[in-house]
Amino acid sequence: MSEYGSFPEVRPRRLRTTPAMRRMVAEHRLHPADLILPAFVREGIAEPVPLSSMPGVVQHSLDSLRKAAAEAAAAGVSGIKLFGVPEDGKKDAIGSPGTDPDGILQVALRAVRAEVGDALVVMSDVCLDEVTDHGHCGVLDERGAVDNDATLERYAEMAVVQAEAGAHVLGPSGMMDGQIRHIRRALDAAGHQDVALLAYTVKYSSTFFGPFREAVNSSLKGDRKTYQQDPPNAREALRELALDVAEGADMVMVKPGLPYLDILRQVADASPVPVAAYQISGEYAMVEAAAERGWLDRERAIDETLTAFKRAGADLVLTYWATEFAQRLRERA
Ligand code: PBG
Repeated sequence: MSEYGSFPEVRPRRLRTTPAMRRMVAEHRLHPADLILPAFVREGIAEPVPLSSMPGVVQHSLDSLRKAAAEAAAAGVSGIKLFGVPEDGKKDAIGSPGTDPDGILQVALRAVRAEVGDALVVMSDVCLDEVTDHGHCGVLDERGAVDNDATLERYAEMAVVQAEAGAHVLGPSGMMDGQIRHIRRALDAAGHQDVALLAYTVKYSSTFFGPFREAVNSSLKGDRKTYQQDPPNAREALRELALDVAEGADMVMVKPGLPYLDILRQVADASPVPVAAYQISGEYAMVEAAAERGWLDRERAIDETLTAFKRAGADLVLTYWATEFAQRLRERA
Protein backbone atom coordinates (compact mmCIF):
# COMPACT_ATOMS: atom_id res chain seq x y z
CA MET A 1 0.00 0.00 0.00
CA SER A 2 1.30 3.42 -0.92
CA GLU A 3 1.94 6.05 1.76
CA TYR A 4 -0.29 8.31 -0.34
CA GLY A 5 -3.28 6.00 0.03
CA SER A 6 -4.73 3.51 -2.38
CA PHE A 7 -7.75 2.43 -4.40
CA PRO A 8 -10.72 2.96 -4.15
CA GLU A 9 -10.24 6.42 -2.55
CA VAL A 10 -7.32 7.16 -4.82
CA ARG A 11 -8.17 7.26 -8.51
CA PRO A 12 -5.47 8.79 -10.76
CA ARG A 13 -7.93 8.85 -13.68
CA ARG A 14 -9.77 11.82 -12.10
CA LEU A 15 -7.06 14.15 -13.40
CA ARG A 16 -7.40 12.80 -16.93
CA THR A 17 -11.12 13.38 -17.43
CA THR A 18 -11.31 16.44 -19.70
CA PRO A 19 -8.97 18.33 -22.01
CA ALA A 20 -9.09 21.32 -19.64
CA MET A 21 -8.20 19.13 -16.69
CA ARG A 22 -5.31 17.50 -18.55
CA ARG A 23 -4.09 20.90 -19.71
CA MET A 24 -4.15 22.23 -16.16
CA VAL A 25 -2.06 19.43 -14.71
CA ALA A 26 0.38 19.04 -17.62
CA GLU A 27 3.88 19.13 -16.12
CA HIS A 28 5.70 20.01 -19.29
CA ARG A 29 4.76 22.23 -22.19
CA LEU A 30 6.60 23.88 -24.99
CA HIS A 31 6.75 27.56 -25.74
CA PRO A 32 7.71 28.99 -29.16
CA ALA A 33 10.81 30.46 -27.51
CA ASP A 34 12.05 26.93 -26.76
CA LEU A 35 12.39 26.26 -30.47
CA ILE A 36 15.28 26.69 -32.89
CA LEU A 37 14.85 26.15 -36.63
CA PRO A 38 17.72 24.44 -38.51
CA ALA A 39 17.86 25.62 -42.14
CA PHE A 40 19.91 24.73 -45.22
CA VAL A 41 21.00 27.33 -47.74
CA ARG A 42 22.49 26.34 -51.08
CA GLU A 43 24.73 28.48 -53.21
CA GLY A 44 23.78 29.35 -56.77
CA ILE A 45 20.07 28.46 -56.80
CA ALA A 46 17.23 30.85 -57.55
CA GLU A 47 14.42 28.63 -56.25
CA PRO A 48 14.37 26.40 -53.17
CA VAL A 49 15.14 22.72 -53.83
CA PRO A 50 12.91 20.20 -51.99
CA LEU A 51 14.65 17.34 -50.17
CA SER A 52 13.19 13.96 -51.08
CA SER A 53 14.22 12.35 -47.80
CA MET A 54 12.81 15.23 -45.72
CA PRO A 55 9.39 16.07 -47.18
CA GLY A 56 8.56 19.70 -46.36
CA VAL A 57 12.21 20.74 -45.89
CA VAL A 58 14.18 22.50 -48.64
CA GLN A 59 17.62 23.71 -49.53
CA HIS A 60 16.92 27.43 -49.46
CA SER A 61 17.92 30.09 -51.91
CA LEU A 62 19.06 33.28 -50.21
CA ASP A 63 15.64 34.79 -50.88
CA SER A 64 13.63 31.90 -49.52
CA LEU A 65 15.94 31.72 -46.50
CA ARG A 66 15.25 35.34 -45.65
CA LYS A 67 11.53 34.65 -45.86
CA ALA A 68 11.82 31.53 -43.70
CA ALA A 69 13.77 33.49 -41.09
CA ALA A 70 11.16 36.26 -41.01
CA GLU A 71 8.37 33.67 -40.72
CA ALA A 72 10.13 31.89 -37.86
CA ALA A 73 10.60 35.19 -36.02
CA ALA A 74 6.93 36.10 -36.54
CA ALA A 75 5.90 32.73 -35.10
CA GLY A 76 7.95 33.41 -31.97
CA VAL A 77 10.70 30.87 -32.64
CA SER A 78 13.81 32.01 -30.78
CA GLY A 79 16.63 30.98 -33.08
CA ILE A 80 17.66 29.82 -36.53
CA LYS A 81 20.60 27.52 -37.16
CA LEU A 82 22.20 27.78 -40.62
CA PHE A 83 24.00 25.16 -42.67
CA GLY A 84 25.66 26.22 -45.93
CA VAL A 85 25.85 24.09 -49.07
CA PRO A 86 28.53 25.36 -51.46
CA GLU A 87 28.30 25.01 -55.23
CA ASP A 88 29.56 21.71 -56.62
CA GLY A 89 33.22 22.01 -57.44
CA LYS A 90 34.04 24.48 -54.67
CA LYS A 91 34.59 21.85 -52.00
CA ASP A 92 38.20 20.79 -51.43
CA ALA A 93 40.29 18.80 -48.95
CA ILE A 94 40.53 21.61 -46.39
CA GLY A 95 37.01 23.03 -46.81
CA SER A 96 37.96 26.39 -48.29
CA PRO A 97 34.36 27.68 -48.64
CA GLY A 98 34.15 27.50 -44.84
CA THR A 99 36.75 30.22 -44.35
CA ASP A 100 35.95 32.34 -47.41
CA PRO A 101 34.14 35.53 -46.29
CA ASP A 102 32.08 35.09 -49.47
CA GLY A 103 31.37 31.41 -48.79
CA ILE A 104 27.66 30.62 -48.84
CA LEU A 105 27.29 30.27 -45.07
CA GLN A 106 28.82 33.69 -44.46
CA VAL A 107 26.69 35.27 -47.19
CA ALA A 108 23.61 33.66 -45.65
CA LEU A 109 24.50 34.88 -42.16
CA ARG A 110 24.73 38.44 -43.43
CA ALA A 111 21.45 38.07 -45.33
CA VAL A 112 19.57 36.70 -42.33
CA ARG A 113 20.98 39.34 -39.98
CA ALA A 114 19.95 42.01 -42.49
CA GLU A 115 16.44 40.53 -42.55
CA VAL A 116 15.78 39.89 -38.85
CA GLY A 117 18.44 41.89 -37.00
CA ASP A 118 18.36 40.68 -33.41
CA ALA A 119 14.76 39.39 -33.54
CA LEU A 120 16.12 35.84 -33.89
CA VAL A 121 19.24 34.38 -32.36
CA VAL A 122 21.23 33.63 -35.52
CA MET A 123 23.40 30.52 -35.30
CA SER A 124 25.73 28.66 -37.62
CA ASP A 125 27.45 25.30 -37.78
CA VAL A 126 31.22 25.20 -37.31
CA CYS A 127 32.15 22.00 -39.10
CA LEU A 128 33.99 20.97 -42.21
CA ASP A 129 31.74 18.20 -43.55
CA GLU A 130 29.58 20.58 -45.58
CA VAL A 131 32.61 22.09 -47.32
CA THR A 132 35.13 19.27 -47.81
CA ASP A 133 35.26 17.05 -50.90
CA HIS A 134 35.80 13.95 -48.72
CA GLY A 135 32.85 14.85 -46.49
CA HIS A 136 34.60 14.36 -43.14
CA CYS A 137 34.15 16.82 -40.29
CA GLY A 138 37.88 17.50 -40.19
CA VAL A 139 40.98 17.62 -42.37
CA LEU A 140 42.76 14.34 -43.09
CA ASP A 141 46.34 13.31 -42.37
CA GLU A 142 48.53 11.52 -44.91
CA ARG A 143 46.98 8.17 -43.94
CA GLY A 144 43.46 9.47 -44.50
CA ALA A 145 42.54 9.68 -40.81
CA VAL A 146 40.84 12.78 -39.39
CA ASP A 147 43.58 14.94 -37.87
CA ASN A 148 42.21 16.39 -34.64
CA ASP A 149 44.67 19.21 -33.99
CA ALA A 150 45.03 20.35 -37.59
CA THR A 151 41.21 20.46 -37.74
CA LEU A 152 41.11 22.78 -34.72
CA GLU A 153 43.08 25.37 -36.68
CA ARG A 154 40.48 25.25 -39.46
CA TYR A 155 37.61 25.55 -36.95
CA ALA A 156 39.26 28.57 -35.35
CA GLU A 157 39.41 30.34 -38.71
CA MET A 158 35.85 29.35 -39.61
CA ALA A 159 34.56 30.60 -36.28
CA VAL A 160 36.10 34.05 -36.72
CA VAL A 161 34.74 34.36 -40.27
CA GLN A 162 31.25 33.34 -39.13
CA ALA A 163 31.36 35.76 -36.21
CA GLU A 164 32.39 38.53 -38.57
CA ALA A 165 29.44 37.64 -40.82
CA GLY A 166 27.06 38.23 -37.92
CA ALA A 167 26.44 34.95 -36.09
CA HIS A 168 25.27 35.41 -32.50
CA VAL A 169 25.96 31.78 -31.61
CA LEU A 170 28.33 29.23 -33.13
CA GLY A 171 27.66 25.50 -33.01
CA PRO A 172 30.84 23.45 -33.27
CA SER A 173 29.54 20.04 -34.38
CA GLY A 174 32.63 18.12 -35.43
CA MET A 175 33.38 16.31 -32.14
CA MET A 176 37.09 17.13 -32.21
CA ASP A 177 38.76 17.07 -28.79
CA GLY A 178 39.47 20.56 -27.51
CA GLN A 179 37.28 22.31 -30.09
CA ILE A 180 35.42 24.52 -27.62
CA ARG A 181 38.56 25.91 -25.97
CA HIS A 182 40.31 26.42 -29.29
CA ILE A 183 37.38 28.24 -30.86
CA ARG A 184 36.71 30.32 -27.72
CA ARG A 185 40.31 31.54 -27.68
CA ALA A 186 40.28 32.36 -31.39
CA LEU A 187 37.03 34.32 -31.03
CA ASP A 188 38.31 36.24 -28.02
CA ALA A 189 41.60 37.04 -29.73
CA ALA A 190 39.63 38.49 -32.66
CA GLY A 191 37.45 40.62 -30.38
CA HIS A 192 34.34 38.41 -30.50
CA GLN A 193 33.93 37.87 -26.76
CA ASP A 194 30.16 38.25 -27.09
CA VAL A 195 29.66 35.47 -29.61
CA ALA A 196 28.34 32.44 -27.71
CA LEU A 197 29.09 28.75 -28.19
CA LEU A 198 26.41 26.08 -28.34
CA ALA A 199 28.57 22.97 -28.06
CA TYR A 200 27.49 19.79 -29.75
CA THR A 201 28.61 18.09 -26.56
CA VAL A 202 27.03 14.69 -26.97
CA LYS A 203 26.87 13.56 -30.56
CA TYR A 204 26.49 9.93 -31.41
CA SER A 205 27.61 8.26 -34.60
CA SER A 206 24.04 7.73 -35.73
CA THR A 207 22.39 6.29 -38.79
CA PHE A 208 19.57 8.79 -38.19
CA PHE A 209 21.75 11.51 -39.74
CA GLY A 210 21.09 9.84 -43.12
CA PRO A 211 18.73 12.41 -44.68
CA PHE A 212 21.04 15.28 -43.59
CA ARG A 213 23.63 13.96 -46.00
CA GLU A 214 21.23 14.67 -48.87
CA ALA A 215 20.42 18.05 -47.36
CA VAL A 216 24.04 19.19 -47.51
CA ASN A 217 24.99 17.27 -50.70
CA SER A 218 27.52 15.39 -48.59
CA SER A 219 30.26 13.48 -50.35
CA LEU A 220 31.08 11.29 -47.34
CA LYS A 221 32.06 7.69 -47.98
CA GLY A 222 32.49 5.67 -44.83
CA ASP A 223 31.46 6.83 -41.38
CA ARG A 224 32.33 9.13 -38.47
CA LYS A 225 32.95 6.45 -35.87
CA THR A 226 36.45 7.66 -34.95
CA TYR A 227 35.15 11.02 -33.75
CA GLN A 228 31.45 10.74 -32.91
CA GLN A 229 30.37 8.77 -29.83
CA ASP A 230 29.59 5.08 -29.88
CA PRO A 231 25.86 4.39 -29.31
CA PRO A 232 26.35 1.76 -26.56
CA ASN A 233 28.16 4.26 -24.32
CA ALA A 234 26.53 6.53 -21.75
CA ARG A 235 29.35 7.47 -19.36
CA GLU A 236 31.33 9.44 -21.90
CA ALA A 237 28.39 11.82 -22.32
CA LEU A 238 29.04 13.22 -18.83
CA ARG A 239 32.76 13.38 -19.51
CA GLU A 240 32.15 15.35 -22.71
CA LEU A 241 29.82 17.64 -20.76
CA ALA A 242 32.45 18.35 -18.09
CA LEU A 243 35.07 19.07 -20.75
CA ASP A 244 32.88 21.37 -22.84
CA VAL A 245 31.75 23.37 -19.83
CA ALA A 246 35.35 23.70 -18.63
CA GLU A 247 36.40 24.82 -22.12
CA GLY A 248 33.82 27.60 -22.17
CA ALA A 249 30.62 26.23 -23.69
CA ASP A 250 27.72 28.62 -23.06
CA MET A 251 25.11 25.99 -23.92
CA VAL A 252 25.33 22.29 -24.64
CA MET A 253 23.46 19.95 -26.94
CA VAL A 254 22.51 16.29 -27.09
CA LYS A 255 22.04 14.76 -30.51
CA PRO A 256 20.24 12.77 -31.90
CA GLY A 257 17.19 13.27 -29.72
CA LEU A 258 14.65 10.48 -29.42
CA PRO A 259 17.02 7.48 -29.34
CA TYR A 260 19.07 9.25 -26.63
CA LEU A 261 16.48 10.58 -24.17
CA ASP A 262 18.24 8.71 -21.35
CA ILE A 263 21.42 10.63 -22.13
CA LEU A 264 19.50 13.90 -22.39
CA ARG A 265 18.10 13.33 -18.89
CA GLN A 266 21.57 12.67 -17.45
CA VAL A 267 23.06 15.72 -19.14
CA ALA A 268 20.14 17.93 -18.11
CA ASP A 269 20.55 16.85 -14.46
CA ALA A 270 24.29 17.56 -14.46
CA SER A 271 24.61 20.66 -16.66
CA PRO A 272 25.19 24.13 -15.20
CA VAL A 273 24.34 25.68 -18.61
CA PRO A 274 21.22 25.49 -20.82
CA VAL A 275 20.70 22.17 -22.58
CA ALA A 276 19.41 21.74 -26.13
CA ALA A 277 18.21 18.59 -27.87
CA TYR A 278 18.43 18.25 -31.65
CA GLN A 279 15.59 16.36 -33.30
CA ILE A 280 17.59 15.36 -36.33
CA SER A 281 16.83 14.68 -39.97
CA GLY A 282 16.15 10.95 -39.57
CA GLU A 283 13.74 11.55 -36.70
CA TYR A 284 11.89 14.06 -38.85
CA ALA A 285 11.88 11.68 -41.82
CA MET A 286 10.48 8.77 -39.80
CA VAL A 287 7.44 10.72 -38.66
CA GLU A 288 6.80 12.29 -42.07
CA ALA A 289 7.12 8.94 -43.85
CA ALA A 290 4.80 7.12 -41.46
CA ALA A 291 2.29 9.97 -41.60
CA GLU A 292 2.38 9.96 -45.41
CA ARG A 293 1.37 6.29 -45.33
CA GLY A 294 -1.40 7.05 -42.87
CA TRP A 295 0.35 5.00 -40.19
CA LEU A 296 0.69 7.86 -37.69
CA ASP A 297 -1.23 11.03 -36.93
CA ARG A 298 1.37 13.59 -38.01
CA GLU A 299 0.48 16.48 -35.70
CA ARG A 300 0.12 14.31 -32.63
CA ALA A 301 3.43 12.60 -33.39
CA ILE A 302 5.17 15.98 -33.67
CA ASP A 303 3.57 17.14 -30.45
CA GLU A 304 4.47 13.99 -28.57
CA THR A 305 8.10 13.84 -29.70
CA LEU A 306 8.73 17.51 -28.92
CA THR A 307 7.10 17.17 -25.51
CA ALA A 308 9.33 14.16 -24.82
CA PHE A 309 12.41 16.38 -25.09
CA LYS A 310 11.02 18.80 -22.51
CA ARG A 311 10.09 15.96 -20.19
CA ALA A 312 13.62 14.54 -20.51
CA GLY A 313 15.03 17.90 -19.42
CA ALA A 314 15.77 19.92 -22.56
CA ASP A 315 15.52 23.70 -22.27
CA LEU A 316 15.69 24.13 -26.04
CA VAL A 317 14.80 21.97 -29.03
CA LEU A 318 16.19 22.21 -32.54
CA THR A 319 13.54 20.88 -34.91
CA TYR A 320 12.71 21.20 -38.59
CA TRP A 321 9.09 21.67 -37.46
CA ALA A 322 9.95 24.76 -35.37
CA THR A 323 7.94 27.34 -37.31
CA GLU A 324 4.93 25.11 -37.92
CA PHE A 325 4.87 23.99 -34.32
CA ALA A 326 5.29 27.51 -32.92
CA GLN A 327 2.36 28.65 -35.07
CA ARG A 328 0.26 25.80 -33.70
CA LEU A 329 1.18 26.68 -30.12
CA ARG A 330 0.02 30.22 -30.73
CA GLU A 331 -3.31 29.07 -32.16
CA ARG A 332 -3.84 26.82 -29.15
CA ALA A 333 -2.98 29.43 -26.55
C1 PBG B 1 27.79 17.96 -38.99
C2 PBG B 1 26.34 17.92 -38.68
C3 PBG B 1 25.49 16.86 -38.95
C4 PBG B 1 24.22 17.26 -38.51
C5 PBG B 1 24.34 18.55 -38.00
N1 PBG B 1 25.67 18.92 -38.08
C6 PBG B 1 25.69 15.58 -39.65
C7 PBG B 1 26.65 14.57 -39.18
O1 PBG B 1 27.30 14.71 -38.15
O2 PBG B 1 26.79 13.56 -39.90
C8 PBG B 1 22.99 16.42 -38.61
C9 PBG B 1 21.69 17.12 -38.49
C10 PBG B 1 20.56 16.27 -38.90
O3 PBG B 1 20.72 15.07 -39.23
O4 PBG B 1 19.42 16.80 -38.90
N2 PBG B 1 28.14 19.22 -39.51
